[in-house]
Amino acid sequence: MERIEDPKCLSAEVEDQKDELQELLQTLDRQTNWNGTPLAKHNEFWLPTRFLRPILSTQKYFKAKDTDIILCTLPKSGTTWLKSLTFCIVTRNIYTIDQSPLLTSNPHTIVPFFESNVYSEQENPDLEHIPSPRIFSTHIPFNILPNSIRESQCKVIYICRNPLDQFISFRHFILSNKEKDVEPLSMDEAFNMFCQGIDMFGPFWDHVLGYWNAHLNDPQKMLFLKYEDLKEDITLNIKKIAEFLGLPFSLEEENQGKIEEISRFCSNESLSNMEVNKTGMLLGQTKNSSYFRKGEVGDWTNYLTSTMAERMKKLMESKLEGSGLMFKTYNKIDCERRWQFGVPFSNISILPL
Ligand code: A3P
Repeated sequence: MERIEDPKCLSAEVEDQKDELQELLQTLDRQTNWNGTPLAKHNEFWLPTRFLRPILSTQKYFKAKDTDIILCTLPKSGTTWLKSLTFCIVTRNIYTIDQSPLLTSNPHTIVPFFESNVYSEQENPDLEHIPSPRIFSTHIPFNILPNSIRESQCKVIYICRNPLDQFISFRHFILSNKEKDVEPLSMDEAFNMFCQGIDMFGPFWDHVLGYWNAHLNDPQKMLFLKYEDLKEDITLNIKKIAEFLGLPFSLEEENQGKIEEISRFCSNESLSNMEVNKTGMLLGQTKNSSYFRKGEVGDWTNYLTSTMAERMKKLMESKLEGSGLMFKTYNKIDCERRWQFGVPFSNISILPL
């Protein structure tokens, strides 16, 4: 049986856990993602096996404080953007923009993931020394988040993105960090797996719906954002995040242009041009630069056929019927252009989600 991939320096306590994990893995359905990543189905979600132990440690040991902020996403849904914005909003009275730690550290270093950073090397790291408000992030589905996140007064922000752009963005990300000896499946085969729900932290629709329903149940606890909405009106969404966190911008701050300053500083263009993001690596294996690409709504039209898009539309309709959630798959201008040039995508400009 395949063994769980080990991070380079595992502590002794983590070593002790490995047999327990191997036993658990034997009971789970297994798949290999289109890029060769081993997946195991745990609580109805396809989790990368290398994250299974850190996810179980997060569930077992993470004790949320009322002041914590947890940023939750599927990969390639706007995580980097949300981390940067949230960090700037929360620390705006500590750092001016020209002193921002984001100038010298990638957003993923500043706001760590539970599964690939915080709990990856130690089973139960001491997080008490981190000053409040602590900001963490995760791709863990809602139903397997640690109980203390649900039970405390901490705030959760979820950002998602239309599935077509998320799929294409993820494919670019994986291919740009690909190890030489890995031969990924074709676009068609990968899309087919995505539509079957076999995807890292997927199925897509179950991940999004878990957080959507949690938001409907308690909007004060969970803010639900969409990448496309941030692209359309970033000022409104920065205000929304600040208000949700109980840190609204004062009139004076608004008049000083604080919101625009954060918006500009956290833009794809600004962050991707910082030296640290042009050159650095995360965990020695992921290029910082790979977190920044086009950052557009509707880039999928350059890669997917209308038949594929139609398939996704039908899938979303069936999976998410009645949820009340909608996704824009174009920005307004592209949508108009596509009408002008008669490209037959206009009937799927909005996907129910
Ligand atoms: P594209 O591949 O479509 O360009 P994540 O941050 O969840 O890993 O998602 C990465 C996607 O978000 C990429 O999309 C990337 O270009 C985009 N992105 C990263 N930083 C961004 C920012 N500051 N503003 C807008 N989009 C950003």
